[in-house]
Amino acid sequence: MNRYISDIHNCNVVELTKIHNPAGNITIIQNGSNQPFNVRRVYYLYDVPGGSERGGHAHKELFQLIVAASGSFDVVLDDGSYKKIIQLNRPNYGLLMVPLIWRELVNFSSGAICLVLASDKYRESDYIRDYKTFRDLKNI
Ligand code: TYD
Repeated sequence: MNRYISDIHNCNVVELTKIHNPAGNITIIQNGSNQPFNVRRVYYLYDVPGGSERGGHAHKELFQLIVAASGSFDVVLDDGSYKKIIQLNRPNYGLLMVPLIWRELVNFSSGAICLVLASDKYRESDYIRDYKTFRDLKNI
């Protein structure tokens, strides 16, 4: 259950490779880059109405790298014992999410794009959508 790594101190913002170009920059994420997992799925949130909140769940096994590909938003992290808020607002930085972290995504700016690279394909059985179940799993 990855219990040993599943605390918010292991959810850090990593700098991504950026190729500067006056005509427009490029950021690259590929297997073997900073993220400690191979990417099996990419998805992105967009057209998020002002005031909307996303997330509200944890994953049992999934690792993710969350990037504000455009605009900004805040990620509220909770490992059951501690909370921290990370603002993402630059496309060349990504937040590494380890398993068993409850997360809420809030304060989306207009036009924000939340790009997520994930270690596995979508499996609803990997989600924990009930906070009490999450706390129980963490033995808190
Ligand atoms: P969810 O991950 O709960 O969204 P968020 O955390 O951003 O609020 O996903 C919302 C819905 O989309 C859920 O019913 C499952 C579906 N979904 C997929 O089918 N495949 C995917 O890869 C993802 C991320 C979601």
